[in-house]
Amino acid sequence: MHLFDVYPLFDLEIVRAEGCRVWDAAGNEYIDLYGGHAVISVGHSHPAYVAAITEQVAKLGFYSNSVVNSLQQQLAVRLGRMSGYDDYALFLINTGAEANENALKLASFHNGKRRVISFRGSFHGRTSAAVRVTDNPAIIAPVNEGMPVTYVPLGDTASVEAEFAKGDVSSLIVEGVQGVGGIRIPSDDFMRSLRELCTRYEVCMIVDEIQSGYGRSGKFFAHQYAGIRPDIITVAKGIANGFPMGAVLISPMFKAVHGMLGTTFGGNHLACAAAIAVLDIIEEERLIENAATVGRYLLEELATLPGVKELRGRGLMIGIEFEAPIKDIRRRLLFEQKVFTGVAGAHTIRLLPPLSLSHAEAQEAVRRLRSSLRLTADS
Ligand SMILES: Cc1ncc(COP(=O)(O)O)c(C=O)c1O
Repeated sequence: MHLFDVYPLFDLEIVRAEGCRVWDAAGNEYIDLYGGHAVISVGHSHPAYVAAITEQVAKLGFYSNSVVNSLQQQLAVRLGRMSGYDDYALFLINTGAEANENALKLASFHNGKRRVISFRGSFHGRTSAAVRVTDNPAIIAPVNEGMPVTYVPLGDTASVEAEFAKGDVSSLIVEGVQGVGGIRIPSDDFMRSLRELCTRYEVCMIVDEIQSGYGRSGKFFAHQYAGIRPDIITVAKGIANGFPMGAVLISPMFKAVHGMLGTTFGGNHLACAAAIAVLDIIEEERLIENAATVGRYLLEELATLPGVKELRGRGLMIGIEFEAPIKDIRRRLLFEQKVFTGVAGAHTIRLLPPLSLSHAEAQEAVRRLRSSLRLTADS
């Protein structure tokens, strides 16, 4: 058998990692400004995280959701306290797409409506409802097309209201910060208007914090800059530092009915042990504050780079949009300067490092970025 070839790969294999550094099979060391696609929150191979998973798997890795799992309850209490959502309920699954899938379902169960409002440039995952609300026709298969969705421009309050006024909208889904769309930050005023409109027209407000949440923006959730409370919040990626897990945070206005949602693997013991360790480390090492401080430093430094058209970001979620295509810069960064970065479209480099990135590592990464820009300009 061979692998189904859906990923364009860089020809290197990462075999070891520690903190914000990764090593390839040839022994080369890289600074990780990509965090395995915004997944690594507390740093690679954190000793407390490794110990928590190791101890748990030796005791009990998995049992089904038909019996009490006190680790799920511990996680819910801990997450509620740290995120400021004590009064919300938690439903655990395995991925970001599943989190959005369940959020959209829950909203529709709640109000009996079908249509969803999503935004231009959005990405919400690849399963049926999640991909349907994603603004990319190339990844929506005919079997996904059934659910009615209207895409409106990010920031366009009037269009949102015009759609809501038709009376058939179940939910609105918006990213805390658009990631795949190129680190596009909805303004705080816009988020407040969405909150107000959702309340007025009785539309469920879902904020997708899968990439922007868990401290990445410099607050626990990016939407907290706007001081709003969505009806449903979805998370994944950083929640368990690479152990597959997703979650839906659900406002008290939703009534749980046995059987309405469910999963085999979601919330398993091992995933919960990983997620609890992540919250412990975030708190003990003040990683949200670190993301805010180091992110601010990076934004200041990156603003001085040549060829930058626009710099967008909050905390350690940063998009550097260049005038010219970035393919060569990114290859140079990786293979010559040994810095891992992400990408959004042809012109934007996406930085999504572990939240533990130090000032010195950020400084060194900017130095290497500057060198690769100089070399690219010279060649
Ligand atoms: C904002 C957002 N939502 C949803 C997803 C889907 O998450 P997953 O790949 O875990 O299904 C992603 C993944 O990149 C994302 O960035």
